[in-house]
Amino acid sequence: MSYSIARVRGDFPILSREVNGQPLAYLDSAASAQKPQAVIDAELDFYRHGYAAVHRGIHTLSAEATQLMENVRNQIARFMNASSPEEIVFVRGTTEGINLVANSWGRANIQAGDNIIISAMEHHANIVPWQMLCEHTGASLRVIPLNEDGTLQLEVFPTLIDERTKLLAITQVSNVLGTENPLQAMIATAHQAGVKVLVDGAQAIMHHAVDVQALDCDFYVFSGHKLYGPTGIGVLYARKAILQDMPPWEGGGAMIATVSLTEGTTYAAPPGRFEAGTPNTGGILGLGAAVRYIESLTFARIAEYEHSLMQYAQQALQAVPDLKVYGPQQRLGVLAFNLGKHHAYDVGSFLDNYGIAVRTGHHCAMPLMAFYGVPAMCRASFAIYNTEEEVDRLVAGLQRIHRLLG
Ligand SMILES: Cc1ncc(COP(=O)(O)O)c(C=O)c1O
Repeated sequence: MSYSIARVRGDFPILSREVNGQPLAYLDSAASAQKPQAVIDAELDFYRHGYAAVHRGIHTLSAEATQLMENVRNQIARFMNASSPEEIVFVRGTTEGINLVANSWGRANIQAGDNIIISAMEHHANIVPWQMLCEHTGASLRVIPLNEDGTLQLEVFPTLIDERTKLLAITQVSNVLGTENPLQAMIATAHQAGVKVLVDGAQAIMHHAVDVQALDCDFYVFSGHKLYGPTGIGVLYARKAILQDMPPWEGGGAMIATVSLTEGTTYAAPPGRFEAGTPNTGGILGLGAAVRYIESLTFARIAEYEHSLMQYAQQALQAVPDLKVYGPQQRLGVLAFNLGKHHAYDVGSFLDNYGIAVRTGHHCAMPLMAFYGVPAMCRASFAIYNTEEEVDRLVAGLQRIHRLLG
């Protein structure tokens, strides 16, 4: 079966609405993707027919909800090719996953004088938790610099590693430039030096298959809402041997083995140790539905379709005068630009009037904006439901703004 864009679009109810009197052209999926009916139904069905707190009781509804949630853990383990569902921790999203690693593994393993390597293209979610950890411990951050085309200065990376390097925390795909970093080689280099690796998969997980064992990373994090799933749910994968040694981060119900006011508390085994409190079960079931949906389309077809759409967009945008496009020629999912000297907010507001939703601002990547010497950029992102016609509308919209504003 080939990729049917009409069928895919039909699966997303929101795509039939209008914005400012125009059909919606939603080019902001890298910020958050729209949801197919299957995901909406999975959450609704749970609240309508199956809702109960998990792990808490022996009554039927609670047992069923627990089973459904654990089924999704198994499903996610298969989806990422983790070696066991015990390596899958449910978190609120990428941000929480990284903060969990920084506060648990980081505080246990990083000391004054150690260093952590990140890159200059990271999202704030993969910068700030490490800065906070460094402030707390007296460790320092080292940064892999960028080439002008938005690729990493890969030759610099090994020179940043020394015997006090403990972690490489790096994005798989830049949320601004669409650069895909050569992680397999970088992880091999890091591991040779005994350096652990955390991968921020927020902008990769929806575009192609991710195999954490093939990548050989130690941690991998992503958000459900960028994968066509609900907000408020995400995943931290961590290698079992590492997770077992990690101290708890948040304390409370569900993460304990025993609690005594005189003897203290003992903790549950992972992943429960890292899932304090009542989980977002509806979100977890929605995420399971999102993964099923993606798997029904297959990543082979998704990647082929999205690649050809990106090629089309790159070509078509050349017809816009004074358009500065950032990042490498080979980009995944996102395309960032500025139009002449106009502020990205102005350009984004005009496009919104034409029914075209793009992201504007610093994209939670202020160091990257500083590198390019701009306060903001516009970013169009392309997902499984976008079309060449929407690209044409973006091009026509930008040409019109250029005529109006000069
Ligand atoms: C590369 C990258 N990392 C981290 C995040 C943070 O994700 P969330 O806000 O879902 O936690 C994002 C979201 O934009 C992202 O693009």
